[in-house]
Formats: sequence, structure tokens, C-alpha cells
Amino acid sequence: MPKNDVVVGLDIGTTKVCCVIGEVSREGNVEIVGNGSTPSSGMSKGVVLDIDKTVKSIEGAVAEAERMAGFNIGPVYAGVSGEHISSLNSHGVISVASSDKEIVEEDVKRVIEAAKVLSIPSDREVIHVIPRSFSIDGQNGVKNPVGMSGIRLEVDTHIVTGVSTFLQNVNKCVQKAGLELEGNAIVLEPVASSLAVLNEAEKELGTVLVDIGGGTTDIAVFLNGGIYHTAVLPVGGNHVSRDIAVAFRTPPEEAERVKIEYGWVSVEQVEEDQDFQISTLSQGEPESISLKRLAEIIEPRVEEILSLVKQEIFRVCGEEVFLAGVTLTGGTSLLKGMASFAEKVLGLPVRLGVPGNVPGMVESLKSPVYSTSVGLVLYGARNRQDRKYRMRHPQYFKVIWSRISHWFKEVF
Ligand SMILES: Nc1ncnc2c1ncn2[C@@H]1O[C@H](COP(=O)(O)OP(=O)(O)OP(=O)(O)O)[C@@H](O)[C@H]1O
Ligand SMILES: [Mg+2]
Repeated sequence: MPKNDVVVGLDIGTTKVCCVIGEVSREGNVEIVGNGSTPSSGMSKGVVLDIDKTVKSIEGAVAEAERMAGFNIGPVYAGVSGEHISSLNSHGVISVASSDKEIVEEDVKRVIEAAKVLSIPSDREVIHVIPRSFSIDGQNGVKNPVGMSGIRLEVDTHIVTGVSTFLQNVNKCVQKAGLELEGNAIVLEPVASSLAVLNEAEKELGTVLVDIGGGTTDIAVFLNGGIYHTAVLPVGGNHVSRDIAVAFRTPPEEAERVKIEYGWVSVEQVEEDQDFQISTLSQGEPESISLKRLAEIIEPRVEEILSLVKQEIFRVCGEEVFLAGVTLTGGTSLLKGMASFAEKVLGLPVRLGVPGNVPGMVESLKSPVYSTSVGLVLYGARNRQDRKYRMRHPQYFKVIWSRISHWFKEVF
């Protein structure tokens, strides 16, 4: 049996489902005690297409993780992605309620509620309301208003919504696999990934997290320590594999294999050209292909994905927002030569992001493939810790708020 509180992250990706189990100490430190991953075939571009197949993948990943941990899990934090995700920034204003005009947590809750009062289409649900910054009586840039004095409290928030039926389908898969969502919450995948791969300085300076997975490319822009923009593009590494399969008339598994083994992101990047064997659909002798010939197929697709990312960044940030750089993660960031090619296309410094060192983490989790999975556990641990703290110390609003804003600048 676990010694501590257990938090579980369930990353239901387009190509794999990954379950990561963490134990959280009283101090909030996370130790990973189990993980399991199974290929997923019930998803397309980040959304559930086949519930039964997705449930099977979830059951497989959970069983493996439970075996490793040596106990059965409770509720999980599941990630969500897909083109249906949309986000906007919204403003809220209230008058501070108390007679001495000291701002308390209740005021903060009210002003965030006020920011939520906007017309969200009836087919959508709010996934996150993330406070970015507060202002008190016109003074901008306040990060933690609790305990300060003021008459008029304003907030800028980032609101993420998703199509209700797509969110319900994720919930259905989780339930059919015999699990439940912790606090009924679904987490936007790049929000989770950012916890695993970005540091506070990057978020403060201005960083774009780009998670290029199999079916989606998730984007989260961080500015002044908070989330400024999120978006999901319906393109990813599966498109690259399909292009290879078509170009060389090869089965999908073979296309996937050669991409991972020999795939350079662009012709220019290939360090030393050489030939390799690829089997084709015609069942004859395997064909000999050069690394450069393969890179010729990969390059236009990756360039297209990165150009879409660039368009999205500049659409929302414009010229006036300073961005210190881009952190690339997700399985497709592993294509050889990716970081320098992305720098060229995006015109910004690029680094590759792998999940930071969490105690107990096995070597195989230290890969960009698992950024979301590890991030979900970190997200859950902080959320859980905060709830417990709030229950134990209902009077310590100031401390609570500073912890919340330090962790995520997010309200659940
Ligand atoms: N070493 C590698 N080199 C190139 N591509 C790789 C490598 N390893 C994995 N990939 C690709 O990464 C993709 C899977 O990435 P990831 O596991 O992040 O996606 P996912 O979470 O399942 O999907 P999504 O987040 O899009 O729903 C696949 O297209 C796979 O081919
Ligand atoms: Mg993913």
C-alpha cells in the first residue's frame, strides 16, 4: 500500500496512452512509483474516435503502472487536446466588498467569476480559467492581490474551452476503464506539459511551449509568469509517417520505423548521407533509400507544421510581444536536427524540452514523448496539495493565494 497520497496522470494521446502514478509527501514532493504505456488506436488528432479501443489502451497502461507501483489507483487527472479547443483572454472587474477595503480570497474568486461572464456557445464547456494578472485601482501587474487594499479589483484571465461532447467522450473512456476523473477536471495537455519542461524564468521572460505529438501540435505561450495563449493544431508526426508511407509505398509500421531510425528533419541537416533498406508493399526485395531522399519527404511536412506554429504565435503575440524562445517537446521533436531546423523556420531560439528530473522517474520517462504524462502528475500533485492545505487552514488566505499563484496562477 502507498505510504503517501497518490496522484495519477493519464495522458490519452493519439499514438499512446500513458499512465504515471506519483506519491506526494506531506510537503508536496512528488515521487513517481509507477508508469505504463500502451499504443492507442482509438484516437485521431487528439479526440476519441473509438471508445472501446481507447478504453482497452487505458486499461493496459493502468494495469502496467499499477503492477509497477504494487497497488490499485483511485481517481486520475486526464489530459485533453484536439482542434476543438479554443481559448480567449477575458477581463473582470468588481468593487472590493469589505468595509476596510482589504482584498480577501473571496474578492479574488468573485473577480475571476466576473471574467467568466461572457457568451460561451452552448455546445462548449470551460476547461480552465487562468488568472494572468490583477490590477488594483488602476495599478497593473499585481500578481497576488490578497491582503492588499483597494476599491476596484480587476483581473485579466485566460479562458480555455472545449466542445462538451468531446470532453464527455474522454470522461466516458475513463469511466468505462473503471476509473474516475479527480475533481471532475480535465487538463489541457500543453498546460500539463509546461509543468514538466519549462522553468519559472522561461515563463517570466516569455516562452512558447510547442508539443508536437502524433496527431496534434499543442501550443502554450507564457508571458510574465502566466499563460497568455493556448492553441491546438490538428497536425503532428502521424502526417510525416503517412507521407513516408505514400512516397515509398511502404506499410505504415515500416514508415514509422524508418522515420524514427533514419529520419532527419531536413536535407540540409543530414550530417553524412548513407543508404538504408526499406521494405515496400510490392513484397519484393527491400529497396535502398538514402537519408537525404527520406529527408526530402519529411522536410516539407515539418516545415508546414512549424509554419502553422509561427503563424499562430505571431497572430496572437504580434511584433510587440517579446519572446525569449521556444521549447519543443512531444515525440516528433525527436526527429534528428529538429531544434536547429525549427530555429530557422520560427526565427526564435529553440531548445528541446524533456521532463525534468522527478524522483523515482525511470529512464524511459525522460523523453519528450512523456512530457504531458509527467506534467499531469505534477499538476495533480500541486492541485491536491493546495486543496488539502485549504481544508486544513481555511483562515490562511494570504498564504494559500501565494501558493496558488506561485504554482499555476490558476483557479480550479
Ligand atoms: N525518435 C523519434 N523520432 C522521430 N519521431 C518520433 C520519435 N519517437 C516518437 N516519434 C513520433 O512522435 C509521435 C508521437 O508523439 P507523442 O507520444 O508525443 O504523441 P501523442 O501524445 O500520442 O499524440 P498527441 O499528443 O498528438 O495526441 C509519433 O508520430 C511518433 O512517430
Ligand atoms: Mg501528446
